[in-house]
Amino acid sequence: MPDEPDLTRPHVALPPATRAGKPLTRVLAAGGAGFVGSHVCDALVANGVHVVCVDNLVTGRPENVAHLAKSPLFTFLEQDAAVPTAGLAPLDAVLHLASPASPQDFDRLSVETLQAGSHVTHTLLNLAVEHGARFLLASTSEVYGDALEHPQREDYWGNVNPIGPRSVYDEGKRYAESLVTAYRHRHGVDSVIVRIFNTYGPRMRPDDGRCVPNFITGALAQDALTIHGDGKQTRSLCFVDDLVRGLLAAVASGHHGPINLGNPDEDTIVNLAQRIITLCGSSSSMRFVGAAPDDPRQRCPDTSVARKVLDWSPQVDKEEGLARTIEWFRSHRPAGRADAGEAREHDHGHDRGPGQAHTHAEGAKARS
Ligand SMILES: NC(=O)c1ccc[n+]([C@@H]2O[C@H](COP(=O)([O-])OP(=O)(O)OC[C@H]3O[C@@H](n4cnc5c(N)ncnc54)[C@H](O)[C@@H]3O)[C@@H](O)[C@H]2O)c1
Repeated sequence: MPDEPDLTRPHVALPPATRAGKPLTRVLAAGGAGFVGSHVCDALVANGVHVVCVDNLVTGRPENVAHLAKSPLFTFLEQDAAVPTAGLAPLDAVLHLASPASPQDFDRLSVETLQAGSHVTHTLLNLAVEHGARFLLASTSEVYGDALEHPQREDYWGNVNPIGPRSVYDEGKRYAESLVTAYRHRHGVDSVIVRIFNTYGPRMRPDDGRCVPNFITGALAQDALTIHGDGKQTRSLCFVDDLVRGLLAAVASGHHGPINLGNPDEDTIVNLAQRIITLCGSSSSMRFVGAAPDDPRQRCPDTSVARKVLDWSPQVDKEEGLARTIEWFRSHRPAGRADAGEAREHDHGHDRGPGQAHTHAEGAKARS
C-alpha cells in the first residue's frame, strides 16, 4: 500500500532525551497496532528506538504495523496487555495506549473497556516498577464527561454519569488516572497522564463512525453526507502527527500531567463536511436529519499547559491534515466496493467508531 512511511526519514522527530538526559532506547507500546499506537511505533522506530508492541488486536489491525515487521527494532507480541510479560530486556518507557476507544464499541466491549482502564493499567504499571521505566497513560477528554466548562482545562473535574452508556470508557480512564497517581505516590513510578482530544488521520477505520472517516468515505463514494441537527455543533480535531509529537514530548518531559493534547481550532460540522467534499473533489450533497441525542455541542481543549510545559502546539492545519487523510482513504479503498453506503455524522464528540472484525496477524506471537 502506498501509505507506508519511509522509516529512514522520521516525520515526527523524537525529543533528544528523556528527563535527566537519558535517551530512549527501548519502549513497550501497549495498543501499538491501533490507530494512534501505530503512528507512535512508526515515530519511535524511525528515531532508532526499539519498540515492543503488545496488542490483542481487539480493535487494532495487524496491517497498521505490518510494514514495521522488517525492522530489527520492532517486536510484535499479540497478547492481552493485562497479562504480565516476563523476560523483557530493560525498558526505558511503558506507553499505555491499549483501550477500545469507540463509543459504538463500548457496549460490545464493555467489560474489555473497563479492564483496559483497570487490569491493563495495573499490569503495565507493575512492569514500569520492575523496569524503573517512565510510564505514559493515554487518557481522554472523556474524563470531563458532559463538561459544564468550556474549553476544558486540566483542573476541571468533569461531569460523568457513572452508569451511563459511556461510563465503561469514562470511568475506566478515570480509574486509570487514579491508579497511575497512586503508583506514583506509593511506588515512585515516574508517570505522565495525557488527556487526548479528538484525533484524526491515516489508519482510522473507514467504518469508524466518527465524522472525519464518515465524511471522507461518503464524499469519495459521492454519497450524501448526513448531518445530525443543524450542523452548527463544533468539533476541534487534531492531526495524528501532532498528537504523536505531543505524546513523545510528554514521555521526554519530567511532568506528571494531566496534560491536554488536542487542537483547539474549532469548526462547525457543516463547515467540516463542506471542506471534505471540496478536498475530495466530490459532488456529494448534505442531508440533514434529527440531532443525535448525546451529540455534544462543543468540545475544545485548553492546551495552555501543553504549550507551557512541553512547548507543544499543533502544527498541521486542517487543509493539510484532511488532504493527507483523504489521500490515505483514497488509496486504501477496498477494490470493487462502494466506500460508503451511507455517510453518517455520528461523532459523539470523541474517540472512535463502530467495531470492526479484525484478522489476526499470521504468526504474530512474538514476531519481530
Ligand atoms: N483517537 C482518539 O481520538 C483518542 C482520543 C482520546 C483518547 N484516545 C486514547 O488513545 C489510545 C489509542 O486510541 P486509538 O484511537 O488508537 O484506538 P484503537 O482502537 O485504534 O487502538 C487501541 C489499541 O489497543 C488495543 N487493545 C485494546 N485492549 C487491549 C488489551 N487488553 N491488550 C492489548 N491490546 C489492547 C487494540 O487492539 C488497538 O490496537 C486509547 O487508549 C484511547 O483511549 C484516543
